[in-house]
Amino acid sequence: MTGELSPADKAKSVAANRAAGYVEDGMRVGLGTGSTAAWLVKRLGERVRADGLRFRGVPTSTRTAAQARDVGIEVITLDEAGWLDLTIDGADEFDSDLTLIKGGGGAHLQEKIVARASDRMIVIADAAKEVETLGAFPLPVEVIPFGLKSTQKLIEEALVAMDVGGRTTALRMNGDAPFVTDEGNHIIDLHLQRIGDARQISTVLNQIPGVVENGLFIDMCDLVIVGHADSRVDLH
Ligand code: 5RP
Repeated sequence: MTGELSPADKAKSVAANRAAGYVEDGMRVGLGTGSTAAWLVKRLGERVRADGLRFRGVPTSTRTAAQARDVGIEVITLDEAGWLDLTIDGADEFDSDLTLIKGGGGAHLQEKIVARASDRMIVIADAAKEVETLGAFPLPVEVIPFGLKSTQKLIEEALVAMDVGGRTTALRMNGDAPFVTDEGNHIIDLHLQRIGDARQISTVLNQIPGVVENGLFIDMCDLVIVGHADSRVDLH
């Protein structure tokens, strides 16, 4: 994370640095997962070390937990925190209602639990994440390993009745083996191209036995901070 940054990394770091300013002494803060969230954790570590900021962080993945500890952030579990003042996380897509697709990094289950247990959720992103219609980014669905194929079949059948632009699904792989989440589950990515009714799709998916959680975040995000490579910031 040093040296010459790509424009995308610069934009992510600009958004993350702005969001880090929302963290105050004494807060309990959910820490998201992904490359943008990693910039946030880095910046918060700098504030802890340089400015003496004192807050407790609840990471949304083992990756973020390891980074947070590395940079000197006090890490606690969500149960130890009880409730959170703020969660700051990245997103794969967001629209004008601040509905999100998350889970590109495979952490949306813990991310959603943490965001839902927060007074406020701030998303940090580069401009590429802003879309008119959600769905170009594949929608991740976390499923338990037991009965994986029948769960995938039920998801595909459910999509037939949905207002979407595409209906193919793919088990996410990590080399030759299925990707495994921090909760020991797998992820089926839904290539929908266009999501007509996010609320309906989210409800239907989560009613399928075997589905743990989908990557649509509805009515959860309060603010999106979009960073640009020239250091500008847009607030949505
Ligand atoms: C991980 C996520 C990430 O927030 C999302 O994939 C965005 O990642 P990045 O900041 O690397 O673009 O939901 O599960």
